[in-house]
Amino acid sequence: MCGIIGIASNKSVTSNIINSLKRLEYRGYDSSGVATIDDNTINEKKCPGRVEELEKLLFNSPSSGNVGIGHVRWATHGLPNQINAHPHSSELVSVVHNGIIENSENLKQNLEKDGYKFKSQTDTEVITLLLTKFLKKFSPLDAVYKTLEKLTGSFALGILFREHQNIIIGARRGSPLAVGYSNNENYLGSDSYALKSMTNKISYLDDGDVCVLTKDHIEFYDSKKNKKNKKVLILSEDKNETKLGDFKNFMSKEIFEQPFTSSNCINEYIDKIRNDINIIDFPLNPKKLNKIVLIGCGTAYHSCLVAKYWLEELTDLNVEADIASEFRYRNVKFNKSNLYVFISQSGETADTAAALELCKKNNVKTCSIINVVESTIARSSDWVLPIHAGPEIGVASTKAFTGQLLVVYILILKIAEIRKNINRKIFLEKISNLKKLPDLLKKSLKSEDKIQIFAKDFIDAKGSMFLGRGSSFPIALEGALKLKELSYLHAEGYPAGEMKHGPLALIEDGLPVIVIAPKDKYFEKTISNMQEVIARGGKVLLITDKKNEVINENIRFKLEMPYIESLLNPFLTTIPLQLLAYHVALLKKCDIDKPRNLAKSVTVE
Ligand code: AGP
Repeated sequence: MCGIIGIASNKSVTSNIINSLKRLEYRGYDSSGVATIDDNTINEKKCPGRVEELEKLLFNSPSSGNVGIGHVRWATHGLPNQINAHPHSSELVSVVHNGIIENSENLKQNLEKDGYKFKSQTDTEVITLLLTKFLKKFSPLDAVYKTLEKLTGSFALGILFREHQNIIIGARRGSPLAVGYSNNENYLGSDSYALKSMTNKISYLDDGDVCVLTKDHIEFYDSKKNKKNKKVLILSEDKNETKLGDFKNFMSKEIFEQPFTSSNCINEYIDKIRNDINIIDFPLNPKKLNKIVLIGCGTAYHSCLVAKYWLEELTDLNVEADIASEFRYRNVKFNKSNLYVFISQSGETADTAAALELCKKNNVKTCSIINVVESTIARSSDWVLPIHAGPEIGVASTKAFTGQLLVVYILILKIAEIRKNINRKIFLEKISNLKKLPDLLKKSLKSEDKIQIFAKDFIDAKGSMFLGRGSSFPIALEGALKLKELSYLHAEGYPAGEMKHGPLALIEDGLPVIVIAPKDKYFEKTISNMQEVIARGGKVLLITDKKNEVINENIRFKLEMPYIESLLNPFLTTIPLQLLAYHVALLKKCDIDKPRNLAKSVTVE
C-alpha cells in the first residue's frame, strides 16, 4: 500500500510534507515524492528509496509553495524507480494515489488514441491524463467527477491544479483517506498517523466522497456531488500519551487507557456509516488464501494464539501460530498462498524481525500488526495494520495486547466476510458487538477493588497456576506472564484439560489458582477441572461472566465479567489478570514500569 499527504497553508509546506511522509513510511518506501505549486508552476521532485533520499534531493533543489502533495510508494504497477514514483504530473495537474485502477490499461489505450503521451508504467498516470483532458472543458471539481466516473478499482487521491493554486482536491473509493484541520492550514492524509503530528482534529472520508481543501476551509461532497458535512474527531494527543498525568506509573495509565485506545482503533478500522471494515488493500486476495501463519514473541505470541482460535471459529482457513524464535529456525514449508502475519508492539523484536526476513527471502506475502508504525518490522512488511494504541511505555504490555487482539479480530472478520464464511447478518452483528467493547472494558476495570484483595494471597505463595480452555488458554498464559514479569513470582499458564496429566501434583493447600471460565463451549469442562483443584486445597479465583451461577463455597473469589459474545471474552478476561499482576507487584514493591532483567523491546536474539 502507499501513503499520501496534502497540505494547503499560508506558509511553505515542503518540510511538513516530508515529516508526514516519514510517518507514512510504514505504508511503503520503494520511492517517494513531493509536488508543490508556486507562481503557477508545478514543482515535482521524486526519487526511488527512502524518504531521506527525497529530503536530500529537496535540500539540494528546494521546492517552495504554500500548497503541496506528497507520496510514499509500495509498487503495484511498474518498477520502484524515479519515473514511476508519485506524484504524477502533467502541465495542468499533479496527482498522488493509493490503490489500484483495475481498468488502467483500457483507459491508457483510449488516452493514447487521443494523443496523450505516458511517461510511466503506473496505473496512476491515467488519472493525471484524464484530469488534464477534462480540465480543458470543466472546472477542477467537475473534472474530478468526470474522471472518477471512468475509474474502476480503489483509490485515495490528492490532486493539485496549476491554474488553481490555492486548492487541493481529495477523493476516496476503497482506500482510506482523512482530512485534518488547523489555523491557516488544512491537511489531507492516508490515516491519522499522517496528520497527528500537525493536528488532533480530523475527519474521515467515506467511499465516494470528494473534498475540496484550502488553507481556510474544507468542503465535502458525496458521490453525486451533493454537499455534505463531516464529523470532526479529536485524536488523542501524542504528547499526553508519554506523560503520566494523574497516574503513579505508566503501566496503570496504560491499563486504564484501554477503553480509549480500543475506541480509537475501532474508529480507524470501522466505517460507522457503512458499517464496514476499512481494510481493503490485502497483499493476497483473501479468496485465494490457503493458510494464515501467525508469528510473535511473548505477549504478542499470546495474541497469535487467541487469533488462531478466532480463525478456526470464523473461517475455513488453515491456521498456524508459532513463537518467532522457533519459527525462524524450523524447516518451514513456505507456500505463496499463505499470508504470514507478524504481531509486535515495538516492531523491533529481533526474533520477530528475523522470522519476517526469512519469509521475505522465501517470497511470501507478509503483514504486520504493529504499534510503532515507523519500526523495522513495519517497514519490512508488505502490509501494515497499525493498532493505534499510542506509545506504550511500561515494559509489561497491556494496551498493546488488547490493541493487537482488536486488529487481528477485525482482520479475521473482514477475511471471513470476503470468503463468505460468515453472512452479512452475522458480520453486522459482530461489528455491532465490537462497538460495545470500549464500554465493557471500562466496566471490567471496576474489578480492581476485588483484585486488590486477592493479590494479598500471592505474597507468601510458592507459585500460582492460571488455567483456561480454548481462547482462554492463551489468556491464562498471558496472565501468568504478566505476574512473572512484574512480581518475579513463579506462575504457570496451562490448558485446564492438561492438569490431570501431571501439573495437578503442584496443587497444595493455599496455592492461588486462577481459573478463566466464561460461558462458552468449554465452561462445564473447565469448572470440572476447577473442582479437581479445589479438592486438593487450591485457592481459586474464578473469572467468569455474568451468565454463570456457579455455587461453590470453596471458591476464594468469583469475578463476574460483563457478558459479551463468547468470541470477545479474551478482551475482558485479560483485564483482571493485568490488574492482579500490577497489584501483586505493588505489594512486593517491584519496579512497575521497568521490571528487572527485562527491556521494552528485545532487539537481540
Ligand atoms: C510482554 O509484557 C513483554 N513485554 C514481552 O513478552 C513482549 O510482549 C515481547 O518481548 C514482544 O515484544 P513486541 O510485541 O514489541 O514484539
